[in-house]
Amino acid sequence: MSPKSTTTKSISRLVQPAVRKLTAYHIVEEPVRVKLDAMENPFPLPPDVRRDVAEAIERTLINRYPDPSAKELKKAIADFWGLDAERMILGNGSDELIQAVVLAFGGPVLIPVPTFAMYEITSRALSQAVATVPLRKDFSLDADLLIKKAKQVKAKVIFLACPNNPTGNRFADDAVRKVLESVNAAVVIDEAYFDFSGKSFLPFLDRHPNMIVLRTLSKIGLAGLRVGMLAAAPEVIEELNKIRLPYNINVLSQAAGIAVLKHRETLKAQISLLISERGRLYNALSRLQGITPFPSETNFILFRTNGSATRIFTMLKQQGILIKNLDRPGPLRNCLRVTVGAPEENNEFIGQMQGILATDSHG
Ligand SMILES: Cc1ncc(COP(=O)(O)O)c(C=O)c1O
Repeated sequence: MSPKSTTTKSISRLVQPAVRKLTAYHIVEEPVRVKLDAMENPFPLPPDVRRDVAEAIERTLINRYPDPSAKELKKAIADFWGLDAERMILGNGSDELIQAVVLAFGGPVLIPVPTFAMYEITSRALSQAVATVPLRKDFSLDADLLIKKAKQVKAKVIFLACPNNPTGNRFADDAVRKVLESVNAAVVIDEAYFDFSGKSFLPFLDRHPNMIVLRTLSKIGLAGLRVGMLAAAPEVIEELNKIRLPYNINVLSQAAGIAVLKHRETLKAQISLLISERGRLYNALSRLQGITPFPSETNFILFRTNGSATRIFTMLKQQGILIKNLDRPGPLRNCLRVTVGAPEENNEFIGQMQGILATDSHG
Protein backbone atom coordinates (compact mmCIF):
# COMPACT_ATOMS: atom_id res chain seq x y z
CA MET A 1 0.00 0.00 0.00
CA SER A 2 1.44 3.35 -0.94
CA PRO A 3 1.75 5.92 1.83
CA LYS A 4 -0.26 9.12 1.64
CA SER A 5 1.26 11.80 -0.59
CA THR A 6 1.76 14.13 2.36
CA THR A 7 4.30 11.71 3.81
CA THR A 8 6.17 11.00 0.57
CA LYS A 9 7.65 14.48 0.10
CA SER A 10 11.29 14.20 -0.81
CA ILE A 11 13.74 15.03 1.94
CA SER A 12 15.74 16.97 -0.67
CA ARG A 13 13.89 20.07 0.51
CA LEU A 14 15.64 19.65 3.85
CA VAL A 15 19.07 19.92 2.23
CA GLN A 16 20.85 23.16 3.17
CA PRO A 17 20.00 26.04 0.79
CA ALA A 18 23.70 26.61 0.02
CA VAL A 19 23.95 23.04 -1.30
CA ARG A 20 20.64 23.12 -3.21
CA LYS A 21 21.88 26.16 -5.13
CA LEU A 22 25.04 24.37 -6.31
CA THR A 23 25.65 22.83 -9.72
CA ALA A 24 27.67 19.60 -9.60
CA TYR A 25 31.22 19.68 -11.00
CA HIS A 26 30.72 18.54 -14.58
CA ILE A 27 32.62 15.42 -15.66
CA VAL A 28 31.98 13.80 -19.06
CA GLU A 29 31.54 10.09 -18.40
CA GLU A 30 31.16 8.67 -21.92
CA PRO A 31 34.08 6.58 -23.15
CA VAL A 32 36.22 8.39 -25.73
CA ARG A 33 39.10 7.28 -27.91
CA VAL A 34 41.44 10.21 -27.21
CA LYS A 35 40.90 11.68 -23.74
CA LEU A 36 42.45 15.13 -23.44
CA ASP A 37 40.07 16.81 -21.03
CA ALA A 38 41.21 16.13 -17.45
CA MET A 39 44.98 16.79 -17.20
CA GLU A 40 45.75 13.12 -16.72
CA ASN A 41 49.13 11.61 -17.62
CA PRO A 42 48.39 9.68 -20.84
CA PHE A 43 50.98 6.94 -20.29
CA PRO A 44 49.97 3.71 -18.57
CA LEU A 45 52.55 2.34 -16.12
CA PRO A 46 55.31 0.29 -17.80
CA PRO A 47 55.26 -3.50 -17.17
CA ASP A 48 58.03 -3.50 -14.49
CA VAL A 49 56.19 -0.86 -12.45
CA ARG A 50 52.88 -2.69 -12.82
CA ARG A 51 54.55 -5.84 -11.55
CA ASP A 52 55.79 -4.01 -8.45
CA VAL A 53 52.33 -2.55 -7.86
CA ALA A 54 50.74 -5.99 -8.22
CA GLU A 55 53.19 -7.50 -5.73
CA ALA A 56 52.64 -4.66 -3.25
CA ILE A 57 48.88 -5.06 -3.50
CA GLU A 58 49.17 -8.81 -3.08
CA ARG A 59 50.85 -8.25 0.29
CA THR A 60 48.22 -5.73 1.43
CA LEU A 61 45.81 -6.66 4.21
CA ILE A 62 42.49 -5.24 3.13
CA ASN A 63 40.75 -6.65 6.19
CA ARG A 64 42.68 -4.10 8.27
CA TYR A 65 42.23 -0.34 8.41
CA PRO A 66 45.02 1.58 6.70
CA ASP A 67 47.89 3.29 8.52
CA PRO A 68 45.96 6.42 9.63
CA SER A 69 48.81 8.80 8.92
CA ALA A 70 50.12 6.95 5.83
CA LYS A 71 53.69 7.27 7.14
CA GLU A 72 55.44 5.21 4.49
CA LEU A 73 53.63 6.87 1.61
CA LYS A 74 54.35 10.28 3.12
CA LYS A 75 58.02 9.37 3.25
CA ALA A 76 57.97 8.21 -0.40
CA ILE A 77 56.30 11.49 -1.42
CA ALA A 78 58.73 13.54 0.68
CA ASP A 79 61.65 11.75 -1.04
CA PHE A 80 60.16 12.24 -4.50
CA TRP A 81 59.75 16.00 -4.12
CA GLY A 82 62.57 16.61 -1.62
CA LEU A 83 60.28 17.72 1.22
CA ASP A 84 59.91 17.27 4.95
CA ALA A 85 57.49 14.38 5.73
CA GLU A 86 56.80 15.85 9.18
CA ARG A 87 55.20 18.94 7.76
CA MET A 88 52.64 17.33 5.53
CA ILE A 89 49.28 15.63 5.54
CA LEU A 90 47.85 13.57 2.71
CA GLY A 91 44.36 13.70 1.28
CA ASN A 92 42.08 11.70 -0.95
CA GLY A 93 43.22 13.84 -3.85
CA SER A 94 44.05 17.48 -3.22
CA ASP A 95 40.28 18.03 -3.58
CA GLU A 96 39.89 16.61 -0.08
CA LEU A 97 42.60 18.91 1.25
CA ILE A 98 40.85 21.94 -0.26
CA GLN A 99 37.78 20.86 1.68
CA ALA A 100 39.84 20.38 4.87
CA VAL A 101 41.25 23.91 4.61
CA VAL A 102 37.81 25.47 4.19
CA LEU A 103 36.44 23.34 7.03
CA ALA A 104 39.25 24.44 9.32
CA PHE A 105 39.44 28.14 8.50
CA GLY A 106 35.92 28.86 7.27
CA GLY A 107 35.14 31.81 5.00
CA PRO A 108 34.98 34.23 3.44
CA VAL A 109 37.06 32.47 0.81
CA LEU A 110 38.71 34.69 -1.77
CA ILE A 111 39.71 33.51 -5.25
CA PRO A 112 40.88 35.14 -8.44
CA VAL A 113 38.79 34.24 -11.50
CA PRO A 114 39.02 32.29 -13.67
CA THR A 115 40.50 29.51 -11.56
CA PHE A 116 39.94 25.89 -10.49
CA ALA A 117 36.18 25.37 -9.97
CA MET A 118 36.42 23.26 -6.80
CA TYR A 119 37.53 26.18 -4.59
CA GLU A 120 34.15 27.83 -5.07
CA ILE A 121 32.06 24.63 -5.17
CA THR A 122 33.62 23.30 -1.94
CA SER A 123 33.33 26.62 -0.12
CA ARG A 124 29.68 27.04 -1.08
CA ALA A 125 28.93 23.41 -0.18
CA LEU A 126 30.25 24.25 3.29
CA SER A 127 28.00 27.35 3.37
CA GLN A 128 30.96 29.74 3.24
CA ALA A 129 30.89 33.09 1.44
CA VAL A 130 33.03 33.34 -1.70
CA ALA A 131 34.51 36.61 -2.96
CA THR A 132 36.26 36.95 -6.30
CA VAL A 133 38.66 39.31 -8.06
CA PRO A 134 39.30 39.19 -11.80
CA LEU A 135 42.70 38.26 -13.17
CA ARG A 136 44.11 40.75 -15.65
CA LYS A 137 43.43 40.31 -19.37
CA ASP A 138 46.64 38.29 -19.75
CA PHE A 139 45.56 36.20 -16.72
CA SER A 140 48.27 37.65 -14.48
CA LEU A 141 47.46 38.34 -10.82
CA ASP A 142 46.73 41.89 -9.68
CA ALA A 143 48.13 41.53 -6.16
CA ASP A 144 47.00 44.99 -5.02
CA LEU A 145 43.42 44.32 -6.07
CA LEU A 146 43.44 40.92 -4.31
CA ILE A 147 44.90 42.41 -1.11
CA LYS A 148 42.34 45.23 -1.13
CA LYS A 149 39.49 42.75 -1.53
CA ALA A 150 40.93 40.45 1.15
CA LYS A 151 40.88 43.32 3.63
CA GLN A 152 37.45 44.52 2.54
CA VAL A 153 35.73 41.12 2.95
CA LYS A 154 38.01 39.95 5.82
CA ALA A 155 38.97 36.84 3.87
CA LYS A 156 40.01 33.83 5.93
CA VAL A 157 41.35 31.77 3.04
CA ILE A 158 42.77 32.76 -0.35
CA PHE A 159 43.34 30.10 -3.01
CA LEU A 160 46.02 30.77 -5.63
CA ALA A 161 46.54 27.95 -8.11
CA CYS A 162 50.11 28.40 -9.20
CA PRO A 163 50.29 27.54 -12.10
CA ASN A 164 46.63 28.33 -12.55
CA ASN A 165 43.94 26.10 -14.01
CA PRO A 166 42.44 26.69 -16.57
CA THR A 167 44.72 29.50 -17.74
CA GLY A 168 48.06 27.60 -17.53
CA ASN A 169 50.21 30.52 -16.33
CA ARG A 170 52.13 30.83 -13.09
CA PHE A 171 51.53 34.04 -11.14
CA ALA A 172 54.62 36.23 -10.69
CA ASP A 173 56.69 35.41 -7.58
CA ASP A 174 56.60 39.05 -6.46
CA ALA A 175 52.80 39.24 -6.70
CA VAL A 176 52.32 36.06 -4.66
CA ARG A 177 54.89 37.14 -2.07
CA LYS A 178 53.18 40.51 -1.72
CA VAL A 179 49.87 38.73 -1.04
CA LEU A 180 51.53 36.45 1.54
CA GLU A 181 53.02 39.43 3.33
CA SER A 182 49.97 41.68 3.28
CA VAL A 183 46.94 39.61 4.25
CA ASN A 184 45.63 38.20 7.49
CA ALA A 185 44.44 34.98 5.88
CA ALA A 186 45.59 31.47 5.07
CA VAL A 187 47.06 31.67 1.56
CA VAL A 188 46.83 28.33 -0.20
CA ILE A 189 49.32 28.01 -3.04
CA ASP A 190 47.97 25.12 -5.08
CA GLU A 191 50.93 23.60 -6.94
CA ALA A 192 48.95 20.82 -8.64
CA TYR A 193 51.02 21.48 -11.80
CA PHE A 194 54.37 21.96 -10.07
CA ASP A 195 56.02 19.06 -11.90
CA PHE A 196 55.44 20.81 -15.24
CA SER A 197 56.70 24.22 -14.11
CA GLY A 198 59.53 23.18 -11.79
CA LYS A 199 58.99 26.31 -9.68
CA SER A 200 57.68 26.22 -6.13
CA PHE A 201 56.88 28.47 -3.20
CA LEU A 202 57.61 25.69 -0.71
CA PRO A 203 61.14 26.90 0.10
CA PHE A 204 59.49 30.05 1.53
CA LEU A 205 57.31 28.19 4.03
CA ASP A 206 59.50 29.18 7.00
CA ARG A 207 59.28 32.84 6.07
CA HIS A 208 55.50 32.81 5.56
CA PRO A 209 53.69 30.96 8.36
CA ASN A 210 50.32 31.80 6.75
CA MET A 211 51.19 29.80 3.62
CA ILE A 212 49.78 26.38 2.79
CA VAL A 213 51.04 24.46 -0.23
CA LEU A 214 49.06 21.79 -2.06
CA ARG A 215 50.39 19.24 -4.53
CA THR A 216 48.98 16.11 -6.08
CA LEU A 217 50.11 12.82 -7.60
CA SER A 218 47.16 13.00 -10.02
CA LYS A 219 48.84 14.90 -12.83
CA ILE A 220 52.00 12.80 -12.96
CA GLY A 221 50.40 9.44 -13.59
CA LEU A 222 48.49 8.43 -10.46
CA ALA A 223 45.11 10.14 -10.84
CA GLY A 224 43.31 6.87 -10.10
CA LEU A 225 44.95 6.52 -6.67
CA ARG A 226 43.58 9.87 -5.39
CA VAL A 227 46.53 11.11 -3.38
CA GLY A 228 47.11 14.79 -2.65
CA MET A 229 49.60 16.47 -0.32
CA LEU A 230 49.38 19.55 1.89
CA ALA A 231 52.46 21.17 3.45
CA ALA A 232 52.26 23.89 6.09
CA ALA A 233 53.68 25.09 9.40
CA PRO A 234 53.50 22.43 12.16
CA GLU A 235 50.75 24.25 14.08
CA VAL A 236 48.57 24.35 10.94
CA ILE A 237 49.19 20.65 10.29
CA GLU A 238 48.14 19.95 13.88
CA GLU A 239 44.82 21.77 13.41
CA LEU A 240 44.12 20.13 10.05
CA ASN A 241 44.86 16.69 11.49
CA LYS A 242 41.95 17.21 13.87
CA ILE A 243 39.41 17.41 11.07
CA ARG A 244 40.98 15.04 8.54
CA LEU A 245 38.96 11.82 8.32
CA PRO A 246 40.96 9.13 10.17
CA TYR A 247 41.67 6.67 7.34
CA ASN A 248 41.45 8.96 4.34
CA ILE A 249 44.13 7.19 2.25
CA ASN A 250 43.03 3.63 1.66
CA VAL A 251 45.42 0.67 1.91
CA LEU A 252 45.55 0.03 -1.84
CA SER A 253 46.42 3.65 -2.62
CA GLN A 254 49.12 3.62 0.04
CA ALA A 255 50.63 0.36 -1.23
CA ALA A 256 50.45 1.28 -4.91
CA GLY A 257 51.73 4.82 -4.33
CA ILE A 258 54.79 3.59 -2.45
CA ALA A 259 55.54 1.03 -5.18
CA VAL A 260 55.20 3.52 -8.05
CA LEU A 261 57.20 6.31 -6.43
CA LYS A 262 60.20 3.97 -6.24
CA HIS A 263 60.33 4.29 -10.05
CA ARG A 264 61.29 7.90 -9.90
CA GLU A 265 63.22 7.88 -13.19
CA THR A 266 60.24 6.49 -15.11
CA LEU A 267 57.93 9.20 -13.75
CA LYS A 268 60.49 11.95 -14.39
CA ALA A 269 61.02 10.74 -17.98
CA GLN A 270 57.26 10.85 -18.64
CA ILE A 271 57.08 14.38 -17.21
CA SER A 272 59.98 15.51 -19.46
CA LEU A 273 58.31 14.03 -22.51
CA LEU A 274 55.04 15.80 -21.65
CA ILE A 275 56.87 19.12 -21.23
CA SER A 276 58.45 18.73 -24.64
CA GLU A 277 55.09 17.68 -26.17
CA ARG A 278 53.54 20.80 -24.60
CA GLY A 279 56.02 22.93 -26.58
CA ARG A 280 55.24 21.06 -29.79
CA LEU A 281 51.48 21.36 -29.22
CA TYR A 282 51.78 25.08 -28.44
CA ASN A 283 53.72 25.71 -31.65
CA ALA A 284 51.27 23.68 -33.71
CA LEU A 285 48.29 25.54 -32.22
CA SER A 286 50.01 28.90 -32.86
CA ARG A 287 50.23 28.03 -36.55
CA LEU A 288 46.49 27.37 -36.87
CA GLN A 289 44.37 30.09 -38.45
CA GLY A 290 42.19 31.89 -35.89
CA ILE A 291 43.64 30.08 -32.86
CA THR A 292 45.55 31.83 -30.08
CA PRO A 293 47.14 29.56 -27.47
CA PHE A 294 48.14 30.97 -24.06
CA PRO A 295 51.61 30.14 -22.70
CA SER A 296 51.49 27.23 -20.26
CA GLU A 297 53.59 25.93 -17.36
CA THR A 298 51.25 22.96 -16.90
CA ASN A 299 50.29 19.80 -18.79
CA PHE A 300 47.46 21.55 -20.66
CA ILE A 301 47.05 24.49 -23.01
CA LEU A 302 44.23 27.04 -23.01
CA PHE A 303 43.47 28.49 -26.43
CA ARG A 304 41.09 31.07 -27.83
CA THR A 305 39.20 30.54 -31.07
CA ASN A 306 37.66 33.00 -33.50
CA GLY A 307 34.15 32.38 -32.25
CA SER A 308 33.94 28.68 -33.10
CA ALA A 309 34.84 27.06 -29.75
CA THR A 310 31.66 25.02 -29.32
CA ARG A 311 31.69 23.93 -32.98
CA ILE A 312 35.32 22.79 -32.69
CA PHE A 313 34.61 21.01 -29.39
CA THR A 314 31.60 19.18 -30.88
CA MET A 315 33.40 18.19 -34.08
CA LEU A 316 36.41 16.87 -32.15
CA LYS A 317 34.05 14.86 -29.95
CA GLN A 318 32.40 13.36 -33.01
CA GLN A 319 35.88 12.15 -34.00
CA GLY A 320 36.36 10.59 -30.55
CA ILE A 321 38.60 13.36 -29.16
CA LEU A 322 37.49 14.92 -25.88
CA ILE A 323 38.88 18.27 -24.73
CA LYS A 324 37.31 20.80 -22.32
CA ASN A 325 34.88 23.44 -23.55
CA LEU A 326 35.22 26.57 -21.42
CA ASP A 327 33.30 28.88 -23.75
CA ARG A 328 31.02 31.08 -21.66
CA PRO A 329 30.50 34.82 -21.27
CA GLY A 330 33.41 36.45 -19.46
CA PRO A 331 37.18 36.04 -19.63
CA LEU A 332 37.00 32.52 -21.12
CA ARG A 333 34.72 33.48 -24.01
CA ASN A 334 35.61 31.33 -27.06
CA CYS A 335 38.16 29.33 -25.07
CA LEU A 336 38.97 25.62 -25.09
CA ARG A 337 41.49 23.67 -23.01
CA VAL A 338 43.43 20.67 -24.25
CA THR A 339 45.47 18.36 -22.02
CA VAL A 340 48.88 17.40 -23.39
CA GLY A 341 48.59 13.76 -24.46
CA ALA A 342 50.94 11.13 -25.80
CA PRO A 343 52.72 12.17 -29.05
CA GLU A 344 50.33 10.24 -31.31
CA GLU A 345 47.28 11.69 -29.50
CA ASN A 346 48.62 15.21 -29.92
CA ASN A 347 49.25 14.54 -33.61
CA GLU A 348 45.71 13.33 -34.06
CA PHE A 349 44.29 16.33 -32.19
CA ILE A 350 46.28 18.78 -34.34
CA GLY A 351 45.36 16.91 -37.53
CA GLN A 352 41.66 17.08 -36.68
CA MET A 353 41.94 20.76 -35.75
CA GLN A 354 43.52 21.48 -39.14
CA GLY A 355 40.66 19.65 -40.87
CA ILE A 356 37.96 21.47 -38.86
CA LEU A 357 39.50 24.91 -39.41
CA ALA A 358 39.94 24.21 -43.13
CA THR A 359 36.19 23.49 -43.45
CA ASP A 360 35.62 26.72 -41.47
CA SER A 361 37.54 28.90 -43.91
CA HIS A 362 35.86 27.27 -46.93
CA GLY A 363 32.47 28.27 -45.62
C1 LIG B 1 44.60 23.55 -9.54
C2 LIG B 1 44.07 22.20 -9.18
N1 LIG B 1 44.07 21.82 -7.90
C3 LIG B 1 43.62 20.62 -7.52
C4 LIG B 1 43.11 19.73 -8.45
C5 LIG B 1 42.55 18.42 -7.96
O1 LIG B 1 43.48 17.44 -8.01
P1 LIG B 1 43.30 16.04 -7.26
O2 LIG B 1 43.17 15.03 -8.34
O3 LIG B 1 44.54 15.89 -6.45
O4 LIG B 1 42.07 16.12 -6.39
C6 LIG B 1 43.07 20.08 -9.80
C7 LIG B 1 42.52 19.14 -10.79
O5 LIG B 1 42.30 19.44 -11.92
C8 LIG B 1 43.57 21.35 -10.17
O6 LIG B 1 43.55 21.77 -11.44
